[in-house]
Amino acid sequence: MKQQKRRHKIMVIHGPNLNMLGKREPEIYGKETLDEINAKLEELAKKLGIDVETFQSNHEGEIIEKIQSASGGSGKCKGLIINPAAFTHTSIAIRDALLLLDIPIIEIHLSNIYKREPFRRKSMISDVVTAQISGFGVQGYIMALKAIAKI
Ligand code: DQA
Repeated sequence: MKQQKRRHKIMVIHGPNLNMLGKREPEIYGKETLDEINAKLEELAKKLGIDVETFQSNHEGEIIEKIQSASGGSGKCKGLIINPAAFTHTSIAIRDALLLLDIPIIEIHLSNIYKREPFRRKSMISDVVTAQISGFGVQGYIMALKAIAKI
């Protein structure tokens, strides 16, 4: 029997309050819900011939455990797209977890964090990721998935 080739998996992690997209400050984050964004990513992944796993949590520890799972074992991924949301600006623990990975990582923000309040202008992870996309709304996720599939 012909062995089926396993497709590469890309992990997408959404941080706190992103489960409220659609309702949450739509003038900043847009009207699309997280389910709609994830559905777009899954559709694009199919076209690109890759698998995508999406995950959202409001808890820092759960996000860290998901990042750890992407680094090995059955959860091993070929790339990570992460919007750590408010943890972007505070979490040394998420930064440390990202340092475990030897795969491309794209940090993503719906809004342009450099155009907003001073406390949002600092990212704890931008210097340990491969690239950052900030301010393109949902389009940023699409760009990130296309780019990570190429690299
Ligand atoms: C965000 C920007 C963060 O400052 C904020 O806390 C978020 C979302 C963005 O996608 O623009 O929750 O990461």
